[in-house]
Amino acid sequence: MNSFQEKLINWYQLNKRDLPWRNTKNPYFIWLSEIILQQTRVDQGMNYYLHFVSNYPTIEQLANASEQEVLKSWQGLGYYSRARNLHFTAKVINEKYKGIFPQTYNEILELKGIGEYTAAAIASFAFDLPHAVLDGNVFRVLSRLFDIDTAIDSTQGKKEFANLANELLPKNNSSTYNQAIMEFGALFCTPSNPNCEACVLRNNCLSFQNKSVLNRPVKSKKTKTRNRYFNYLVFFSDEQIILSKRTRKDIWTNLYEFPLIEKKDEKENTEEVLLDEIHEQFQLKPISLFTSKKHVLSHQHIFARFFIFDEIPKKINALKIHLDEFYKYPVPKLISNFLEEFEK
Ligand code: ADE
Repeated sequence: MNSFQEKLINWYQLNKRDLPWRNTKNPYFIWLSEIILQQTRVDQGMNYYLHFVSNYPTIEQLANASEQEVLKSWQGLGYYSRARNLHFTAKVINEKYKGIFPQTYNEILELKGIGEYTAAAIASFAFDLPHAVLDGNVFRVLSRLFDIDTAIDSTQGKKEFANLANELLPKNNSSTYNQAIMEFGALFCTPSNPNCEACVLRNNCLSFQNKSVLNRPVKSKKTKTRNRYFNYLVFFSDEQIILSKRTRKDIWTNLYEFPLIEKKDEKENTEEVLLDEIHEQFQLKPISLFTSKKHVLSHQHIFARFFIFDEIPKKINALKIHLDEFYKYPVPKLISNFLEEFEK
């Protein structure tokens, strides 16, 4: 028991979490878990995974659901393109592959919504194919073990780490090794405060020797965030409410919201400007105004206001629904949070 791979697998056997997608070889369930976990923590994703597995137990059942229903099931998880692609790809597998998940890495990689990481995860976990996974956890563990200072978000870095990851992969045990290195990154070799003193890989770890653990991995770009100013018009009367569907290529495509006036900068986003604009367009005055707290997405901060009306404009090109029907419509968290507050 000397190689770092053996130590890692041994650590995994002793410390792994018992997670439902680890007790199956069903490629559909593994795919589903990987899509859910892409930008989501295990504790947050678990209930969604269990819901999908029980509501759509086969690819065919997912393919036959409507997109609206799938988005509704995804509501609250964020990054909704994951759900749209999941549904799109379920239909492709159902038609092109007769409902049977493709079994080669290249065919899997061709599917919409599946990149190199997810293809390697499915290929190794479901089919024991020798493809190394490379996610944020693996980048961190490898950058520390080998004390690599190439930026992980550079072209050169991606190549260097992919080559290294594939060289290190034990080809006859790819599934367990891939799970092990990710779990080690998630639970032990964490971004801050890793417990190096108790680490089983300490003697293999060049960063530990060089005291550079907290400076690995290196990233070149800082993620830029932009501010957006959303003003929602809540037209509500006789239990009827107006919704509109976001069809543009933007955040929340195909989700529903209230009619929206967006402003690009804070200067244009004064109450006065908006009240004038609303009056001009609808000849209505709001009965109240609710300002929600900043809504934080990965690259955007959204500052939202809700102008509340007790009338519905005569001419409005949007969907009028009864409040009882609201539960059928997938909406962003910003909207469901507002409604929770509003109903109090
Ligand atoms: N994050 C991404 N994939 C995962 C998996 N298979 N198990 C636990 N966390 C994960």
